[in-house]
Amino acid sequence: MPGILHRRIQLHYEYLYTQDDFEAVRELLHAVAGISLDAGKRELVYGRLARRLRACGLDRFSAYLTLLRSAQGKAEVVHFINALTTNLTGFFRDPYQFDYLAEKVLPEAAARTRSGQYYRIWSAGCSSGEEPYSIAMVARECSPCRDRLDVRILATDLDSSVVAKARQGYYPQERIADLSSALVHKWFRRRGGGDHSRFEVEPALKELVEFRRLNLMHEWPEQGPFDLIFCRHVMIYFDHSTRRTLFERYADSLVDGGYLFLGRSETVHTVSECFAPAGPAVYRKR
Ligand SMILES: C[S@@+](CC[C@H](N)C(=O)[O-])C[C@H]1O[C@@H](n2cnc3c(N)ncnc32)[C@H](O)[C@@H]1O
Repeated sequence: MPGILHRRIQLHYEYLYTQDDFEAVRELLHAVAGISLDAGKRELVYGRLARRLRACGLDRFSAYLTLLRSAQGKAEVVHFINALTTNLTGFFRDPYQFDYLAEKVLPEAAARTRSGQYYRIWSAGCSSGEEPYSIAMVARECSPCRDRLDVRILATDLDSSVVAKARQGYYPQERIADLSSALVHKWFRRRGGGDHSRFEVEPALKELVEFRRLNLMHEWPEQGPFDLIFCRHVMIYFDHSTRRTLFERYADSLVDGGYLFLGRSETVHTVSECFAPAGPAVYRKR
């Protein structure tokens, strides 16, 4: 019977991949990135990691796992993480939160912040940069803030490949298709022509944002305390106790009354007492 099962697995997959391998991948990803992979993601894991086995010249997942756990496998762990993160994002994703930022949070800060003082924002889990650049556009567009608020944005992500893309700030046309032509005209430069043209973020926006690779499970930036933290559509990948720890660390990294923006399906409710609800998936440090 095990022989039959073994043959079926080999027929189905190009690389030998067992349930134990899948469980070992889940365990390792949780250990290195805090990410809890759903038990139903077995096929997805195969699809994402098969190309890494090809790149490493391996024919089975158990050998790939051995490599990842070895001293020589350190560089491969970065590829392993990059292959398994979900980077879905977009400019002005959940637009009502950007309205809240423009109409409430930034004007309030502009009225309060003394000149010469930075207003510090952290986009934690920034993916390919659309989120921090959207924040930067709001900061540059919103009238009371434009002149009175000196915004600085730290944007970090665990996935080194998206951080590199974000830093370059080049986007294909479809990524900016939902932006108004006024915004595109003001904040992007067309590079190249025809179907291959790309849109580069203007230096005036880029200069507000510093990108860095950072694993939220490790040490955090010293640039704090922050006035505002965006951590949207990131917490969903973590289990309850990891979320609780992160909320407490966010509270420690925020000024009193500082804001935390989460994804629309994420909440601090039942997880942490450090924050009070303030707006649409927006919380304030108590
Ligand atoms: C779905 S994207 C969300 C992007 C953006 N915040 C948004 O809402 O559009 C989630 C991001 O979280 C990052 N991420 C996952 N685990 C992380 C960790 N332990 N440390 C830092 N970033 C992490 C992923 O690499 C991914 O780019």
